[in-house]
Amino acid sequence: MRGIILAGGNGTRLAPMTSVVSKQLLPVYGKPMIYYPLSVLLSVGITDILVIARPQDLPLFERLLGDGSRFGACFDYAEQETPRGLADALIVGREHVGDDDVALILGDNIFHGHDFGSIVADAIKNNVGATLFAYEVSDPERYGVVRVDRFGTLLDVVEKPSNPPSNLAITGFYLFDNDALDVAAGLSPSPRGELEITDVIKHFVDRGLARAVPLTDGFVWLDAGTPDSYVDACNYVQAIETRQGRMIACPEEVAFVKGLTGEDQLLAAAAEFGSSEYGRYLTRLAGRFIERSAA
Ligand code: G1P
Repeated sequence: MRGIILAGGNGTRLAPMTSVVSKQLLPVYGKPMIYYPLSVLLSVGITDILVIARPQDLPLFERLLGDGSRFGACFDYAEQETPRGLADALIVGREHVGDDDVALILGDNIFHGHDFGSIVADAIKNNVGATLFAYEVSDPERYGVVRVDRFGTLLDVVEKPSNPPSNLAITGFYLFDNDALDVAAGLSPSPRGELEITDVIKHFVDRGLARAVPLTDGFVWLDAGTPDSYVDACNYVQAIETRQGRMIACPEEVAFVKGLTGEDQLLAAAAEFGSSEYGRYLTRLAGRFIERSAA
């Protein structure tokens, strides 16, 4: 399965913070926002990843993430001239995905919960058509909203409805089989002028091939698209990380734990970030590993 991180858009709801900096490069507590979705993909072993961003932002993402080798991965980059809607990622990403299935994740979505890696790995294994992750929210009108039957099969999906049919929002993380590329290519823009991901999902709903995996019981899903949700995300990450001494979404750690990288790469990253909290964290991690191997 190939991965796409969509880090485009103008981040208008976060202006002027996003006037000269891409939203997905803003820090969420101690690390750039894109580290969070990147860590999700790495945690399930998706290593062929395309990052899509505006032309003016793309060089910054490339400088930050490189060719992916530091994470035992392989990154490609592609421009999205104008924000044409989420489904456009499946058009821009066509060559990158090839004949494979695709995991599309939005660059501003933050997931944190016990065993998320296994939940996603299961979803990938069982995906036929489209698999979404659904999360109960108090303000569903801000999101794509689904209705599901008791088996999790999607009955309906609507984008930002004024009269939401349920409280189940869909997160910005989508698994699709390869047909989604043709479906996206054949879409017409919606009345708001966008290629809607919900229209791709509807194609699978109509065929009974769309499923929602509920993220429940203590699971946290945050998007960082508005000043309030951005600050919530920063505060949440700070609270957990300082309490537990463990980082959420440290891609070097995820890659190392997943066996995508070795001790040398971890030590090199630790040295690169030096005396920052991030660098010290990686140094402690490497130290613990060396102690364990010596024991
Ligand atoms: C997008 C999708 C929406 C989804 C949300 C998740 O909305 O269109 O269906 O629920 O991401 O973050 P946006 O945040 O781009 O308005």
